[in-house]
Amino acid sequence: MIKNGHHPINTTGKDAGTNLGATACSPEKRRRTIRVWCDGCFWWSVCEISQHKGPPVFTQDERYKMVRAIKWVDEIVEGAPYVTTLETLDKYTSDFCVHGDDITLTVDGKDTYEEVKRSGRYRECKRTQGVSTTDLVGRMLLMTKAHHSNIGHSDYQQHTDNFGKGPKGHSPWTGVSQFLQTSQKIIQFASGQEPQPGDTIIYVAGAFDLFHIGHVDFLEAVSRLSDKPYVIVGLHFDQEVNRYKGKNYPIMNVHERTLSVLACRYVSEVVIGAPYAVTRELLDHFKVDLVCHGKTEVHPDKDGSDPYAEPRKKGILHTVDSMNSLTTDSIVQRIIKNRLLFEARNQKKEAKEMAVIQAMKRREEEKGKERAQAVL
Ligand code: C5P
Repeated sequence: MIKNGHHPINTTGKDAGTNLGATACSPEKRRRTIRVWCDGCFWWSVCEISQHKGPPVFTQDERYKMVRAIKWVDEIVEGAPYVTTLETLDKYTSDFCVHGDDITLTVDGKDTYEEVKRSGRYRECKRTQGVSTTDLVGRMLLMTKAHHSNIGHSDYQQHTDNFGKGPKGHSPWTGVSQFLQTSQKIIQFASGQEPQPGDTIIYVAGAFDLFHIGHVDFLEAVSRLSDKPYVIVGLHFDQEVNRYKGKNYPIMNVHERTLSVLACRYVSEVVIGAPYAVTRELLDHFKVDLVCHGKTEVHPDKDGSDPYAEPRKKGILHTVDSMNSLTTDSIVQRIIKNRLLFEARNQKKEAKEMAVIQAMKRREEEKGKERAQAVL
């Protein structure tokens, strides 16, 4: 995918990190659109996946559509090569490419960004701690609830004891960790826009677990209901979702779901921990014009009542057809079906990463010895 940013060009070539050179040069420097190339699998790959990453969970079209719905994406290059070359950057007039600070290797164990790194057209940003596809798959397969945000849960302590360390002898990139929400993170993801006069304020509620194209299609259809939509998504807390969905749902906790939903271009605002029933107070508070639900089942509230009774009474409840039958459960089913392939993929990935870590360690030790000998 390509991100167009209006940043001053950084001629120093010194910036590495997330600011992408925006602060590194003086205001008088010429301004033009910076085109940033970000390739990746985005949930099991947009590129030549099978050889490098294991079984795909989503089809190619599903993944393209999903990435298109991310609000920071300007263009998509379909079928991008797995290894990023200067030729690719030039072909798509990209100034540089950006990747997270984990290592990506080809089947023969080579760094996929070797060429662009050498030429100075590579920038790195910190990977979001604790959010990895591998971890999510683990939650689905192991049926744990440790990721839920209810701290009193017995699994939680065990999980936090492990926080930051990762299982012994495992790669720090592929290992299990836990995501910690911060206000900074929310600020980075939020639109910061308040509703403007004339906007249609549309409220939708749900779990939005493993945020997927079914959700995207629904939210797109919802936003099409008005020329000036202001879409508020009410996210139910983990315990609430677990009450009506059972098993170990939600797979993503409310903090993770908040960021996935905020990243969607059709969403203006998120209510973190919305009440299950859409009450009169909530409708008045947000000055809601319209409440929408897709064609999926509406689970009753704890006391058996209809959570949409109030908007129904006011005549502002709309059923929106997403024309997409994908559900969170079907994604979990796809993953369970691919379970053995995933496990094999993970073991291979960790083994490769461990080999890199060992090599890095050995290099450091050799350097240390050389330094010690030089002193003597
Ligand atoms: O199931 P969940 O609570 O995540 O759904 C959130 C909203 O997205 C609901 O209104 C649901 O009907 C809608 N949806 C949809 N089409 C899908 C999946 C969800 O319209 N394929």
